[in-house]
Amino acid sequence: MIELENLSKCFGKIRAVDQLSLQIKKGEFFCFLGPNGAGKTTTIKLICGLLKPSTGLIKIGEIDVRKEPILAKKILGYIPDQPYLYEKLTPTEFLRFIADLYGVADDGQKLLELFEIAEHKNTLIEEFSHGMKQRIVFCATLIHSPEVIVIDEPMVGLDPKSVHLVKRILKEKSKEGVTIFLSTHTLSLAEELADRVGIIHKGRLIAEGSVEDLKEISKVNNLTDLFLELTQ
Ligand SMILES: Nc1ncnc2c1ncn2[C@@H]1O[C@H](COP(=O)(O)OP(=O)(O)OP(=O)(O)O)[C@@H](O)[C@H]1O
Ligand SMILES: [Mg+2]
Repeated sequence: MIELENLSKCFGKIRAVDQLSLQIKKGEFFCFLGPNGAGKTTTIKLICGLLKPSTGLIKIGEIDVRKEPILAKKILGYIPDQPYLYEKLTPTEFLRFIADLYGVADDGQKLLELFEIAEHKNTLIEEFSHGMKQRIVFCATLIHSPEVIVIDEPMVGLDPKSVHLVKRILKEKSKEGVTIFLSTHTLSLAEELADRVGIIHKGRLIAEGSVEDLKEISKVNNLTDLFLELTQ
């Protein structure tokens, strides 16, 4: 469902993503790990068509993201590392706006209830805390029922109850056949959720497989030891 072939992205002399090839199946829950500056956000922006690759191919299903960016965006849901919101709108207005962009009838009220924002649905977003804003971003991302969800560090700033809720929803989506590509520094999250993980270091994919397989091959007891060993 997500195919990256020899993907590279350079910023001047920095090779942020270097010859990255990856295939992620429909319904797979893939966790993307790597130290600060490894190239995770750059890869995610390339997948979502927000950056142009220096070389390489990106496909979502049968869609070449560079050739048909609008079509790709219709089946993608993207959650960036910083909440993007129109703060002068209320959650109700913002979700209506996003629904109109995607041309869907759903007004997002059920999602607001699910993410426990309904009580504040007519308050200006600028008055919300970081975690509340992040929960509205989740609502906005799910409103068009994307087939692929791409998430950059989703849990930062969320309280334990919200983390629990987000994990539950992502697990449910994955079971329904939605493909999930999630970048995180929270290795326990990857151990709990991922069908497969990939570790990126200095732009290069240095390990890939199920957590169990990687631990066995590397003869380590946990993902943290493996991560530290590979990225030192
Ligand atoms: N717009 C840009 N211009 C120049 N360099 C950039 C740009 N965006 C990213 N980089 C560089 O590319 C490299 C990869 O950055 P990226 O943001 O992809 O890392 P990351 O793995 O997401 O890190 P973090 O865990 O800190 O979020 C870094 O060296 C960064 O400085
Ligand atoms: Mg990042």
